[in-house]
Amino acid sequence: MNNLPALRSKEELVKFTDAVYQNPRLRQPFIEETAWPLLPSEVVDVLATMLGSRPTIEVAAGTGYLAAHLRALGCTKYKAYDNRSSHYEKASPNYGVILGNALQVNLEPFHAVVMSWPCHKTNFASSIAKKMTSGQILYFQGDWRGCTADNLFFELLGEEFTKLTAETDRLNKHHVQYDFNRDEWYVFKKL
Ligand SMILES: C[S@@+](CC[C@H](N)C(=O)[O-])C[C@H]1O[C@@H](n2cnc3c(N)ncnc32)[C@H](O)[C@@H]1O
Repeated sequence: MNNLPALRSKEELVKFTDAVYQNPRLRQPFIEETAWPLLPSEVVDVLATMLGSRPTIEVAAGTGYLAAHLRALGCTKYKAYDNRSSHYEKASPNYGVILGNALQVNLEPFHAVVMSWPCHKTNFASSIAKKMTSGQILYFQGDWRGCTADNLFFELLGEEFTKLTAETDRLNKHHVQYDFNRDEWYVFKKL
């Protein structure tokens, strides 16, 4: 497994977004080393507390940066899958992700599903939302009806899920965005 880059604080990531604003080329290597969203340590701490040792699956987990940090923070039953179908060169790091198609994994044993920046050009996100079963919690990180996840996914969230507002607000309290996107955390429970 590759060496895991440390989490950065909210303060450090705010400075980083300023640097990216001056030089957009800084963003891509950062994404390939870490993740698509900015993940301040304060937010990852909150998520780790919410998930605890409950069985959790992260789908389309990319490098596994979030997964590895959550495991280190006590999320001992956290599995992460990615099939490396897009956005990554074969040589990009893997911090403990299982290589495979997340759509073929049985979601039933899991209490929670974590999904960050799934591709909006495929039906991946809506397929995951359909497969989830009543009572399961979805932690979604992305742009609301933007460039993360397909439109059907957002329709399903409105029809088949209920938003957990307190959890959503806790995750967003310290969230940092790049100035050109509006990604946020969303927590939903399947009805
Ligand atoms: C925009 S990237 C986001 C990665 C990561 N969630 C993050 O936030 O850094 C989308 C990811 O979806 C993965 N992906 C797409 N279809 C998949 C599938 N069927 N199973 C597993 N991963 C998939 C791609 O390989 C890519 O890593």
